[in-house]
Amino acid sequence: MYVVMNELHVPSERKAVLTERFSRSAENMSHVPGCIEFLFLDNENEDGKQVVFTKWESKKDYENWLESDAFKNAHKQKGNSEKQAAQTNELQAYTVAHQSS
Ligand code: HEM
Repeated sequence: MYVVMNELHVPSERKAVLTERFSRSAENMSHVPGCIEFLFLDNENEDGKQVVFTKWESKKDYENWLESDAFKNAHKQKGNSEKQAAQTNELQAYTVAHQSS
């Protein structure tokens, strides 16, 4: 199993807009092969941090999605400063060493 989190740094005034956009992503991600879980998280301590959490059957499934049209379509607005709600992002990837249940 494989976990990838994209930590987005988002100006306070754009958080609601981004949350709304990501609320539609749950449906999109439910059709992606190998994607077990998708969450959009608000950090409790850092106001400007919102995290895209994804859990995968395998690293290969994640890599396939990165190459897919679904990923490209979801990130079309990248670089377009008017539509781009996130200021910067930081990617964290983990292999799952242990899982309960
Ligand atoms: C390279 C810089 C990246 C930036 C700045 C970024 C930012 C964004 C933004 C703003 C959206 C919302 C698009 C919209 O619906 O309007 C989005 C969608 C998404 N991003 Fe990224 N992203 C990046 C790369 C990644 C990576 C590497 C992952 C891997 C976990 C990821 C995970 C997701 C997911 C799961 C969605 C929802 C996809 C969907 O609705 O089909 N992003 N990203």
